[in-house]
Amino acid sequence: MNLFRTKPIDQLVAEGADTGKGLKRELTAVDLVALGIGAIIGAGIFATLGTATSGGGTLPPAGPGIVVSILLTALACGFCGLCYAEFASLVPVAGSAYTYSYATLGELVAWIIGWDLILEYAVGNIAVAISWAAYFRQLLLGFGLEFPAFLATDYRSTLLAAKAAAAGGVGALSPEQAVAYQAHLHHPELFGVPIVFNLLAALITAAITILLVRGIKESARVNDFIVFLKVATLLFFVAVGAFYVKPANWTPFFPGGFSGVWVGASLMFFAYIGFDAISTAAEECKDPGRDMPRGILGSLLVCTLLYVAAALVLSGMIPYQKLVGVADPLAAALAFVKQDWAAGLLAAGAVFSMTAVLLVFQLGQPRILMAMSRDGLLGPWFGKVHPKYRTPHVGTILTGVFVATFSAVANIDEIIQLTNIGTLFAFALVCIGILVLRYREPDRPRKFRVPFVPLVPLLGIAMCVALMVKLPALTWERFVLWLAAGLAIYFLYGRRRSRLARA
Ligand code: ALA
Repeated sequence: MNLFRTKPIDQLVAEGADTGKGLKRELTAVDLVALGIGAIIGAGIFATLGTATSGGGTLPPAGPGIVVSILLTALACGFCGLCYAEFASLVPVAGSAYTYSYATLGELVAWIIGWDLILEYAVGNIAVAISWAAYFRQLLLGFGLEFPAFLATDYRSTLLAAKAAAAGGVGALSPEQAVAYQAHLHHPELFGVPIVFNLLAALITAAITILLVRGIKESARVNDFIVFLKVATLLFFVAVGAFYVKPANWTPFFPGGFSGVWVGASLMFFAYIGFDAISTAAEECKDPGRDMPRGILGSLLVCTLLYVAAALVLSGMIPYQKLVGVADPLAAALAFVKQDWAAGLLAAGAVFSMTAVLLVFQLGQPRILMAMSRDGLLGPWFGKVHPKYRTPHVGTILTGVFVATFSAVANIDEIIQLTNIGTLFAFALVCIGILVLRYREPDRPRKFRVPFVPLVPLLGIAMCVALMVKLPALTWERFVLWLAAGLAIYFLYGRRRSRLARA
């Protein structure tokens, strides 16, 4: 039964107490909302929105009904966000869903969650880094600088693009495929091995890693600045685009019926991932009990308002069919109405936005690893704090190396699906954890309580599962393999090394 041993909440809280030696407690509620917006608005709204609206040519389109998809996803995240907020006010220490499940569902489930969160944080960032690189290359082109295509894509994408070009002609390639096709035609070789990798994605990851090793407060300041720019970018899109809305584009509103709306919701889920990342900074904020719920729900609300406005304007500006295979839908819509200056500004804003997403997830991942290491489930080096900067520098650097390496060679669509399945799984387990804790420790004081328990957590679980089943079989296979690898590590290492086991 010791697989289900739980870590007492009092012990968790005591471990996170400010002893002057651990992480610095400096963040306020406003910092947390900014951290949340920094994580949420990124590749999802700037890139995935195009595929979700148009169906990408293979799925039923959501069309203007994407607005309803966004609201549905917001609802699912809202239910889970309420559960995260209660947990973060109860267990205000680093580690997020991992820590929460250690306190409620036991060590084995906690380990699975911690391992699963790597899919959300590190693997999710691989996708964002790849998308960042695509936008950045477009931006350089706007200044007349052409970054070599073979250093801005991955080898497999070049093969897929070559196949697409052979089947449908070069003219039918999407802008992303066109870059990959160019790399297919022109790349150097070393001893017969083709040299094609995403150098841009690896470089941005390296830069973020260096920033994060230097310290949390400096990083939060950089984030505040970028968050301002990214909100301004979306408002700018809405303000300029509104002049070019043709209400005729809103009919029919649901071209793909409910199926289009639901598929759209499962894709747009990526755009919401991130509000939960705020909870990993609980150990670095001044009053986590009061500020965590404010940070989580506040950032969710702000982003939903911006997304709905942007999606309404986008679908009113341009017929949804024109967004198939478009990687930069907002910029493309502005270019469609001949506002190239605005499209350029928007691309710059998108690059800043995705930089902030990278920052928050690269910040969260080492802190989860740190919590796991502190419990003895991972090697002690993940728990090391830098003597001068007081940041978990070893975990930060290892995360950076992992993300940089895979972002240089991976395919973005597959990475996004894997991220979504892992994240939905974690969200569902957090909702289950709330139910367990209400049953097991009903009287423990909570500074924030989920309303209508058990209804809200149950709805959160149901919506996560309904979105998970929309993901392809291959994604499920990879997810199961990842979990199996995690279980093997636990039984070979963590189970015996666990601090609870040795206590
Ligand atoms: N929500 C984040 C994004 O859209 C992951 O990039």
